[in-house]
Amino acid sequence: MSEKVRSMFADIADDYDRVNSILSFGVHHAWRSRTVQLSGAREGDHVLDCATGTGDLALEFKEKVGEQGYVLGTDFCQEMIEHAPEKAQTNGLAVDFEVADAMNLPYENDRFDIASIAFGIRNVDDPVKALKEMGRVVKAGGKVVVLEFGQPKGLLKYPYELYSQYIMPAVGGWISGNREAYTYLPRTSAEFPAGDKFVALMKESGVFGSQSYEKLTGGIAYIYVGTVR
Ligand SMILES: C[S@@+](CC[C@H](N)C(=O)[O-])C[C@H]1O[C@@H](n2cnc3c(N)ncnc32)[C@H](O)[C@@H]1O
Repeated sequence: MSEKVRSMFADIADDYDRVNSILSFGVHHAWRSRTVQLSGAREGDHVLDCATGTGDLALEFKEKVGEQGYVLGTDFCQEMIEHAPEKAQTNGLAVDFEVADAMNLPYENDRFDIASIAFGIRNVDDPVKALKEMGRVVKAGGKVVVLEFGQPKGLLKYPYELYSQYIMPAVGGWISGNREAYTYLPRTSAEFPAGDKFVALMKESGVFGSQSYEKLTGGIAYIYVGTVR
């Protein structure tokens, strides 16, 4: 499974940012900014962004932690992460990027104040294992933050389903040339445990003393925050 996911992202890496901006109408920037806010990141903090892809959340964290802080973005797909250093440079931000698997992080215990993952946890083979790893590399009292899609209910339910089942695969497939990837992404979002169900996975990981979440845009996305025990 991991290799299939990795090669799918490798295939869409060059078009990922463009498709993302078009399909999300740019709203993902506001979601990332709220993620950084809810993480409680402060100047000087050390942050690990897992499954960083092309690095957007890592850059958002670097803006917050400033020159005294340190941000490391990691992803298991070389082709995705290759785009990140140039974006950091263009934005005048010093961020390190490395290839690493979120389920097997090559970092010592308690190295970071915060570990984050945006739209990545639903792609890993074992989300609880990734949460455990993220909790392991964060100091006691530090935070693990997860930004992930959910399934909106109420008025947004049917328009969103229509959008994700038909428009996303058509537009994403047309721009990237990989329709399968833009069928996989909304399908995994529709199936992924959101809200209380994800909180149950956080509890199962055993690494958090407390956990909470916030719904974004009517439940299209969620931010989960765990405080490492
Ligand atoms: C939908 S993209 C999200 C990228 C970025 N975080 C963002 O918000 O745009 C999912 C990313 O998760 C990465 N990924 C999936 N499984 C992973 C794993 N086990 N370890 C590290 N990265 C992984 C993929 O390579 C891909 O870059």
